[in-house]
Amino acid sequence: MKARTAYVRSVGRFLPERKLTNSDLEKMVETSNEWIVSRTGIQERRILGAGPGCSHMAVPAAKECLERAGVGPEEVDLIIVGTVTPDMMFPSTACLVQDMIGAKNAWGFDLSAGCSGFLFSLSTAAQLIESGRVNRALVIGSDVISTLIDYRDRGTCVIFGDGAGAVLLEACPEPGFGLLDFILHMDGSGGEYLCVKGGGSRIPPTHESLDNREHFVTQDGRQVYKAAVNGMADVSVRILERNGLTGDDLTLFVPHQANNRIIEATAKRLNVEDKKVVVNIHKYGNTVAASIPLALYEAVLENERDLKKGDYLLMSAFGAGFTWGSALLRWWQS
Ligand code: COA
Repeated sequence: MKARTAYVRSVGRFLPERKLTNSDLEKMVETSNEWIVSRTGIQERRILGAGPGCSHMAVPAAKECLERAGVGPEEVDLIIVGTVTPDMMFPSTACLVQDMIGAKNAWGFDLSAGCSGFLFSLSTAAQLIESGRVNRALVIGSDVISTLIDYRDRGTCVIFGDGAGAVLLEACPEPGFGLLDFILHMDGSGGEYLCVKGGGSRIPPTHESLDNREHFVTQDGRQVYKAAVNGMADVSVRILERNGLTGDDLTLFVPHQANNRIIEATAKRLNVEDKKVVVNIHKYGNTVAASIPLALYEAVLENERDLKKGDYLLMSAFGAGFTWGSALLRWWQS
């Protein structure tokens, strides 16, 4: 058993008010509500739009998290923002958040792992807490993915939405609880199947790159689908096995909300009952790095799930890169 672990002390979120419904999309591209619901489970998503930036959502999510815990911003040691849509190329969104919330004693950075961004950030922060270097970390997933979406491409524009979620991680007062284990992977050979080609050092913005629509998300949906189902299911089964658990032992399974069919296929491989699977994709679509913390927020605060000390939660994600992983949490509360 680890001598020191990190536990989730508090959660926060931000969702833009503007809703983009399936019927709105029917007017923009050749699609139908029926197609979108049956293939993805999504009914509507939230849109922040260009202008305010990633920090506009990350900051209120972080503030809510701190307020719920009664923790002052100056008590935060570390801020990690999982995002692929930072406010700007640099400085990092973590720096902007640090300044905007007044976390004057924190250091931190952005972490780019697509839809696995939150899980990679959580695991990184947890290890810094385990090492004793950090006592309290804000882990935020925030993406304004709508700014990278081509609203003429029906294969991608129906899937994604904007949002932010945050958790406050702290050193757990009791051993045997908190973030017990995680398994993370990447396979860069899958990069071409889900990417934004332009805007980096390889294709800096030019008139030509704009004309070629190279600053938008491109995706081979079928390849991503297959890799996501296999990746999330394999890693989730493995983490349960190596901790001597089965799907029956879980109180909640909190999967990345990419596609309802991916969630169902993963839950089936894990043998987890439907009622234990946290699903909010119908309301928000795929919110990239915000997906898991938004689902966790609802699981903890909204759905009367009544988490108790000792309950097991499994989180699992898959994203661009390819990146994927699972994290096992044993709930702690005083
Ligand atoms: N409305 C109507 N038709 C659509 C459509 C839309 N929004 N998007 C695609 N189609 C069409 C395709 O053009 C294709 O037509 P064709 O057979 O004439 O070529 C047909 O529907 C089937 O396309 P396909 O890609 O096989 O559909 P699918 O069942 O795989 O669903 C996705 C497409 C994108 C929903 C699905 O592949 C998926 O969810 N992939 C994973 C995406 C993901 O999770 N990305 C983020 C990872 S973190």
